[in-house]
Amino acid sequence: MSWQGIMDFKKRAQFVLVHALFVVCITANYGVCELKANKSATLSVDASSQSGRKIPDTLFGIFFEEINHAGAGGIWAELVSNRGFEAGGQNTPSDFSPWTIIGDETTVSVGTDRTSPFKRNPVALRVQSNCDADACPSTGVGVYNPGYWGMNLENGKGYKLIFHIKSLDSVDISVSLTNSDGSQTLATNNIVASASDVSDWTKVQFEFVPTGSATGGRLQFITRRKGVFWLDQVSLMPMDTYMGHGFRKDLLSMVADLKPRFLRFPGGCYVEGERLWNAFRWTAAVGPWEERPGHFGDVWNYWSDDGLGYFEFLQLAEDLGAAPVWVINNGVSHQDSVNTANIASWVKDALDSIEFARGSADSTWGSVRASMGHPEPFTLKYMAIGNEDCGKNYYTGNYLKFYSAIKNAYPDMNIITNCNALGTTLDHPADYYDFHTYTTASSMFSQKNVFNSAKRSGPKAFVSEYAVWQSDAGKGSLLASLAEAAFLIGLETNSDVVEMASYAPLFVNDNDRRWNPDAIVFNSSHVYGTPSYWMQQYFRESGGAILNPATIQSDSSSLAASAITWKSPDNLECLKIKIVNFGSDAVNLTISMSGLTNSIDTPNSFTTVLTSSNVMDENSFSNPTKVVPVQTPLTNANSQMHAVIQPHSITSFDMALAQTSYAADM
Ligand code: AHR
Repeated sequence: MSWQGIMDFKKRAQFVLVHALFVVCITANYGVCELKANKSATLSVDASSQSGRKIPDTLFGIFFEEINHAGAGGIWAELVSNRGFEAGGQNTPSDFSPWTIIGDETTVSVGTDRTSPFKRNPVALRVQSNCDADACPSTGVGVYNPGYWGMNLENGKGYKLIFHIKSLDSVDISVSLTNSDGSQTLATNNIVASASDVSDWTKVQFEFVPTGSATGGRLQFITRRKGVFWLDQVSLMPMDTYMGHGFRKDLLSMVADLKPRFLRFPGGCYVEGERLWNAFRWTAAVGPWEERPGHFGDVWNYWSDDGLGYFEFLQLAEDLGAAPVWVINNGVSHQDSVNTANIASWVKDALDSIEFARGSADSTWGSVRASMGHPEPFTLKYMAIGNEDCGKNYYTGNYLKFYSAIKNAYPDMNIITNCNALGTTLDHPADYYDFHTYTTASSMFSQKNVFNSAKRSGPKAFVSEYAVWQSDAGKGSLLASLAEAAFLIGLETNSDVVEMASYAPLFVNDNDRRWNPDAIVFNSSHVYGTPSYWMQQYFRESGGAILNPATIQSDSSSLAASAITWKSPDNLECLKIKIVNFGSDAVNLTISMSGLTNSIDTPNSFTTVLTSSNVMDENSFSNPTKVVPVQTPLTNANSQMHAVIQPHSITSFDMALAQTSYAADM
């Protein structure tokens, strides 16, 4: 989305309100500004090409973890929860929730049996109707699935239903999409078959187009005929998904707007597992969806059917134009560690995963990828060996085995160690070292300087998880985003030694908050960004840009600033200056630019401010745009500019550097 596009209808309304104040504040004569500025600052920017340094293309990306139902019941658009009936375990009887019976114990009995057409998913649902015709309630008896806290069913949109059914008798089942209590049918279809037609497992597939909408909808199977039928692998997918690859469009467009340069996946702790047998295993998460066993993620404590598997992550990275960063389990979980002497099969598994991504379509694993619709290899160049495992039993020994086997087979693979090399020298080889920081706002603000003292040679830093948390952040405060923005400015400045950085966690389904704060909040039908999400939009042009020297002189110690020169998609040169005011005083700012080779195209230059009346303000479903960037024309764009920087704010000055048609059309 372009900067212009940031302003949806609501924000345009906000723009009108804020504009009045802002044009007064951004003026050559800042003395007339209504904001009282107690502090002053001069920001000197050297925009000459010879003094700039290229920022790595990869600097800002995203970290996706299956946490907070970010994937299952999140970006993966599957609407049926527990679609294979394995969530209660592979032994029967097991809990088949959230499937729920329609009827009562006299008219219907429902349970689980080990009678599936799919070897790795033995459990199926048995539905026994004990009533016939008029003896059955008029609404019928059966089961429904409410999805992940309600299915979002939209009027006129297409939904593809697939399920597998078996019965000893003839069947007459009506399959419907309904509102939350089943009182309103939005779409329906009947399955009528003789016993011989369904005596073996039979795959049924059709398309629904609801004639109404429901955000808390459900899928139901009901009958008024006595008999038993079994269901297995029931999937309902919206047909309109991001790039047609199965991802929720509304959530992915938020991600795409960040223009991420890499995608780290599938998690942090999720990769490790509390116990190894519950960790994510990629071989169980590729191939036909019906045959994936799914697994219980025992760190964040929920079941995933693994519809969002290794292939889908690689596809997503490709769709976003982001480099995949594959975090692999190295035989270490939170509670157990495989002895290095026994690690060979884990290393082989890692090599196989690379073959899956990069091998030719006729290689063993490349052919599986090709059968899934991607004969061309994916570009996989980054692998992290474990997550937060440095210092745990066998980590270094296992790491070395992975490192040498991978480098031997794939010398161009960049390997990321869990051991921090900041201020120390690693005892093992690595291309990158992982750096995580979750801290208070003031500490995050100070950490803008943390890489100033890093050794300028050796492995580069990958800040794969950063966030302000706990009381300073709540569920996502402005305060947190300001400190994080200052931290990221520090990373830009140190991007000779820091090559990658991502906020964590990216997503939370509001119905299952396992971790606060997060960048993007959603439920079945709505989504909003926290201030930390919007803060990241200030950095989306930085990857591959030129960092221009920028120095601040001020009586405030609460400022952080940077300047970059970057090329717009239509190849126009642009200058972006960002300044964070972490303090509660407004600041009279003078920006002094030298070395400009082109004149500033004032009509196509603008200012964008993220702030709010209270630094602890958050966005919410009821007020999703309380704290969002507000854009205004930059009326005084000049090599000497004056502006009043608001307290507790992030401000950017975006300037087109020639007479062009670039920039805002507001
Ligand atoms: O981002 C949430 C968790 O924080 C990650 O799973 C883990 O790597 C870190 O401890």
